[in-house]
Amino acid sequence: MSPRIVAIDGPAASGKSTTARRVADALGFEHLNSGLLYRAVAWAAREGGWLQDSGDGRTDAVDRALPDLGLELVPGADGYVVRVDGREPGSALRDPAVTRLASLLSARAPVRRRVNELVREEARRRDVVCDGRDIGTVVFPHADLKVFLYADEEERARRRLLERGEAPALEAVAAEAGRLRERDAADASRSLAPLHPADDAVRLDTTELSPGAVVDRILREARSRGIRPRHV
Ligand code: CDP
Repeated sequence: MSPRIVAIDGPAASGKSTTARRVADALGFEHLNSGLLYRAVAWAAREGGWLQDSGDGRTDAVDRALPDLGLELVPGADGYVVRVDGREPGSALRDPAVTRLASLLSARAPVRRRVNELVREEARRRDVVCDGRDIGTVVFPHADLKVFLYADEEERARRRLLERGEAPALEAVAAEAGRLRERDAADASRSLAPLHPADDAVRLDTTELSPGAVVDRILREARSRGIRPRHV
């Protein structure tokens, strides 16, 4: 049987990665976080001096450098690690400037092509739970299960602050919500692979749900589609 694919999409900070990781662990699948690859390209563009934090710079130089960037997904004991020319950017991928540049660069066709190649190559070899913005719509339109996660903007902002170890005070939540809104608007309005649910995606509003409840719901959907845990 060809490897199974679970696609999880949704807006920024909707809990995709945490959910995808937990669903992958429960099923014995690999977790592929496509956002990390866009972030890695942005990190490399910043390191290479092609793009400033403002977004000004030579995006065409990034496109040209892509084939030689040495972008890799390396399976490790704790999931995949992203490498760029043998280096592991690690937590630098979560830097706010890298996050903004990732959204900017992800609108470019050569960047999307490169990321999609890497993700599809892994999914040919292994059962995966893959999260992103266009996994169920563009990358794997024939995925065995597609999920689209939502949550209120304020709740997503609160979660993102807590994830970073910051207090979810009113002002901080409002500022973070503004950044999420801006990025979601850019991701949803671009012409290439815009953020939107696939017609056949299970839509889940997670605002009032615990992470465990979201995972349980997805595992039920998986079972009902004949997706069985690998290691049981
Ligand atoms: O974790 P968070 O939802 O904040 O972001 P992410 O999933 O790491 O993605 C970072 C950026 O990469 C997004 O804002 C998108 O612009 C882009 N991205 C994309 O275009 N397509 C994907 N499949 C995944 C990410």
